[in-house]
Amino acid sequence: MELPLQGKTLLITGGTSRLGQAVVQKASQQGARVFFTYFHSTALAQGLEQTGAQGFAVDLADVKAIDAFAQVFREKVEFLDVLIHNAAATADALIEKMSEKEWDDVMRVNLKAPFYLTQKLLPLLLRKTPSKVFTLVSRAGLSGLAGAANYAASKGGLISMTKTLARELGRKKILVNAVNPGFMQSSITASVPQEILQENLEESPLKTFSDPGEVADFLLFLSSDRMRQVTGQVFHFESRPF
Ligand SMILES: NC(=O)c1ccc[n+]([C@@H]2O[C@H](COP(=O)([O-])OP(=O)(O)OC[C@H]3O[C@@H](n4cnc5c(N)ncnc54)[C@H](OP(=O)(O)O)[C@@H]3O)[C@@H](O)[C@H]2O)c1
Repeated sequence: MELPLQGKTLLITGGTSRLGQAVVQKASQQGARVFFTYFHSTALAQGLEQTGAQGFAVDLADVKAIDAFAQVFREKVEFLDVLIHNAAATADALIEKMSEKEWDDVMRVNLKAPFYLTQKLLPLLLRKTPSKVFTLVSRAGLSGLAGAANYAASKGGLISMTKTLARELGRKKILVNAVNPGFMQSSITASVPQEILQENLEESPLKTFSDPGEVADFLLFLSSDRMRQVTGQVFHFESRPF
């Protein structure tokens, strides 16, 4: 069996998400040493550890919790080849109803945590290069999403952060790219009204939801040594117009 990630250390946030579970399982099968974070889904995290991966409960909305995790993680591993910022929060409401807390919580998890965690783990990413950072972004970050100004703004910010870090870290041989997985059925889409989901499917040329397994395969291809020179890009799983 081919093991394209043999010898690589990978950390993904939100390992308990639909996409995160697929990444943890496949990366472990492909030979990587896999670590993941989670928040509330303790039973799911314990199940995922059967793959040999190790989970850490971290509230990514809390900078102190990120600090504490980063410290433990820096003592645990000598280097980090791949860091995937996948965890995301939503708190949908129209502008008239969105509270300051709903705005802040989403921005903290989706935008501040990826910046802050990358900063805290930079020493590990620099130890064995090229290393790679991925962000999970969304069409909402480019075209907006009614009822989710916080989520859309966080993903738009994440795209510009990805491009900026690619510029800053390129000469240090850290590659930074974003993947937009398209519409996947998960707890994020569970809160989207059925007619909006249907509209999205109809607009999509393939008329189908994205498959988290296929998105995971793509991320892991980019994580392998087969990709060594691409940085600052956003890869889209959907071909609807923006
Ligand atoms: N689903 C889609 O249609 C879609 C479309 C475009 C982009 N994306 C992006 O793709 C990525 C994966 O999406 P998904 O649908 O697979 O996600 P998901 O199933 O909804 O899972 C969300 C993940 O984020 C974690 N999380 C939430 N709040 C957290 C917090 N405060 N601290 C730490 N972890 C927290 C959750 O952990 P626990 O469950 O352990 O609490 C869970 O692992 C996300 O970045 C999302 O924005 C998704």
